[in-house]
Amino acid sequence: CLTLAVQVDGSEVTTVEGLADSAELHPLQAAFKKHHALQCGFCTPGILMATVDFLSQNESPTREEIAEMLSGQLCRCTGYTPIIDAIYEVSRSAEGGDAG
Ligand code: FES
Repeated sequence: CLTLAVQVDGSEVTTVEGLADSAELHPLQAAFKKHHALQCGFCTPGILMATVDFLSQNESPTREEIAEMLSGQLCRCTGYTPIIDAIYEVSRSAEGGDAG
């Protein structure tokens, strides 16, 4: 929500709607559901997309690294612990695989 559409003119943009490529939830979406990592959901698309990029650069982050990555994402509902739990679980289950 901090990027104006004109700033990405000519770029390929993936939104949260493009995260899952079938009727199945993306592993991160499923983990957020499992850990109750969202309430109102306002922040969730941004956190999911930032996390996909983050995990593409760091496949096995610590909980502290996940918290640091989330520092630019404001969630007023969940208190971050379930979000960190969900991301950490996916990162560990994807070791040697593909989280994104
Ligand atoms: Fe409501 Fe994050 S779930 S702001």
